[in-house]
Amino acid sequence: MSGHPKLLITGGSGFIGSHFVRLCLHKGYQVLNLDALTYAASQDTLQDCAHHPLYHFQKGLIQDPDFICSLLATFKPTAIVNFAAETHVDRSIDSPAPFIESNIRGSFILADESRSYYNKLSNDEKENFRFLHISTDEVFGSCPHDPYTEEAAYNPSSPYAASKAAADLVLKSYYHTYAFPLLITNCTNNYGPFQFPEKLIPLMIIRACAGQSLPLYGTGMQVRDWLYVEDHVEAILHVLQNGKLGNTYNIAGLKGEISNKVVVEEICAILDALQPRTPQASYRDLTTYVIDRPGHDFRYALDMSKIARELGWQPKTSFKEGLTKTVMWYLENRSWWEAIQGRGFQPHRLGLIK
Ligand SMILES: NC(=O)c1ccc[n+]([C@@H]2O[C@H](COP(=O)([O-])OP(=O)(O)OC[C@H]3O[C@@H](n4cnc5c(N)ncnc54)[C@H](O)[C@@H]3O)[C@@H](O)[C@H]2O)c1
Repeated sequence: MSGHPKLLITGGSGFIGSHFVRLCLHKGYQVLNLDALTYAASQDTLQDCAHHPLYHFQKGLIQDPDFICSLLATFKPTAIVNFAAETHVDRSIDSPAPFIESNIRGSFILADESRSYYNKLSNDEKENFRFLHISTDEVFGSCPHDPYTEEAAYNPSSPYAASKAAADLVLKSYYHTYAFPLLITNCTNNYGPFQFPEKLIPLMIIRACAGQSLPLYGTGMQVRDWLYVEDHVEAILHVLQNGKLGNTYNIAGLKGEISNKVVVEEICAILDALQPRTPQASYRDLTTYVIDRPGHDFRYALDMSKIARELGWQPKTSFKEGLTKTVMWYLENRSWWEAIQGRGFQPHRLGLIK
């Protein structure tokens, strides 16, 4: 195993991290997945990798300095990719503290321990070492005009977005102050298999399957850019291998800007074709409009010309293709999300200030 580059991947039992773990194992990396196994994780997600000879798992918190220090000393990674975070905006409105703890303090502790580890590497090892932090388009806030480039100012609205913005800034300071070999990617909304069913697309699929209402926040006209998760993890690996140190890269979907209302309509159309309710009724009839999220950003949009121009990466999956694959996956893998429901997950409305 010693010939394989060693990746420490945090948050690998969550949605995007698990796809990245699978891709890296496929590419011959040795992977240590460090995950706290919060409510958002599922050990079933990486069942197919559990016995892979290059896969290792360690439960723990990125904000535990002693634990991180000894993990780095033992595993000796050649790169670290940080996915670990609290990620649901509505939960951050109800309870910001875990977001500050994991996303800001956690990213800081992980980077700080990684810097101490990096300082002890040989010059050759230093040359190759990378710390890649996964961030979000939400740090830029709502986008009224042209999609945001990497140079746009940060203007986060929700406690989640603010916690991700703060972490990005702390990490950027590590590059400027300590020449810590940092890369950051800011991506748009991901979708695909294994996404926790509190997020819009899986939530709507699962509710539709149960004949429940499909609640759209406010007018439903908020616009998001949708990035198929398998495209995303390929882009992340590309940045890890080819990105310029200290740089940030935007990652977005293939013409992925769509309103939430249209997303739900498309899900309903796919379900109508695959699993009709009755000849007369469409899943669209289940759509309802509910009170909007406080501080809801109207539109997110990223300009991803930099990653295309400088690294030659582009997304491959159209929204229609990715969404069809996603709906089919949730229909064929009921046991995955029913197990999450069995552990007590209830899709109650969150994030309303009482
Ligand atoms: N999903 C999206 O659309 C999206 C969009 C932009 C950016 N991102 C970013 O991508 C990353 C991954 O997102 P996701 O959707 O896969 O998230 P997720 O919620 O599905 O998974 C997060 C994982 O991190 C783990 N985790 C949380 N706090 C931890 C801690 N303190 N220590 C160790 N592990 C911890 C959880 O157990 C879970 O397995 C996050 O940093 C998120 O901010 C996600």
